[in-house]
Amino acid sequence: MILCILVLQKFLTWLVLKSNMLVLTGNPGVGKHTVAEELAETLDYEIVDINKEALKAGMPKQDDSIDVDVGQMKILLKDKLIEKSLIVGHLAIYVVSKTQVSKSIVLRKNPYDLIQIYEKRNYTDKKKNDNLGSEILGVIAYDSIEKLGADKTFQVNTTCLAPQQTVKKILDVIHGNSNGDTIDWLTEISEKNDLKKFFPD
Ligand SMILES: Nc1ncnc2c1ncn2[C@@H]1O[C@H](COP(=O)(O)OP(=O)(O)OP(=O)(O)O)[C@@H](O)[C@H]1O
Ligand SMILES: [Mg+2]
Repeated sequence: MILCILVLQKFLTWLVLKSNMLVLTGNPGVGKHTVAEELAETLDYEIVDINKEALKAGMPKQDDSIDVDVGQMKILLKDKLIEKSLIVGHLAIYVVSKTQVSKSIVLRKNPYDLIQIYEKRNYTDKKKNDNLGSEILGVIAYDSIEKLGADKTFQVNTTCLAPQQTVKKILDVIHGNSNGDTIDWLTEISEKNDLKKFFPD
């Protein structure tokens, strides 16, 4: 009987420990890396940067983006992830499992501001349009809800905020004091008659 209780206790501890990781994701340019360090420091978490891990593993680089092999990355991360990992990257949700993650923070940025970041970064038209389309439709938020659950997925709008303010908003979500933002760029751009601007031909 006592043995049973001990085993059960061990299992429950394992379950709780296993599910403490955090995901910080969103399309390129929404501000993940600008806030990741301060966030990790405040929470006493360790950053696991998918892009850095991919480079370390020698995954090929094209232009300025890395061609991440999601299957291989899942295996690589098995030894790398700890209870208090903050997993950062636009592919983060695709390389973790639901039981590992307590919350997934999806950063969002208004497409009118995001396009300026992509122009500064000299993205090709295709890369620019693919990523803007993904932001407008909320693909990563949608995938996070599907993969990790609506109860674990929280969106944070970073538009017009200083990094400090973004960090504060994220901390409020992580501490359970906020449910984040509701975002609908599609309605905004169609009301401004800008569908063609963001979805050419
Ligand atoms: N409140 C904010 N939070 C985060 N980033 C911001 C904020 N305000 C402005 N920025 C700016 O947004 C730009 C993009 O940020 P950053 O490079 O951190 O994005 P990212 O999500 O890490 O992109 P990638 O996925 O390409 O690495 C930077 O120039 C950054 O300075
Ligand atoms: Mg970055």
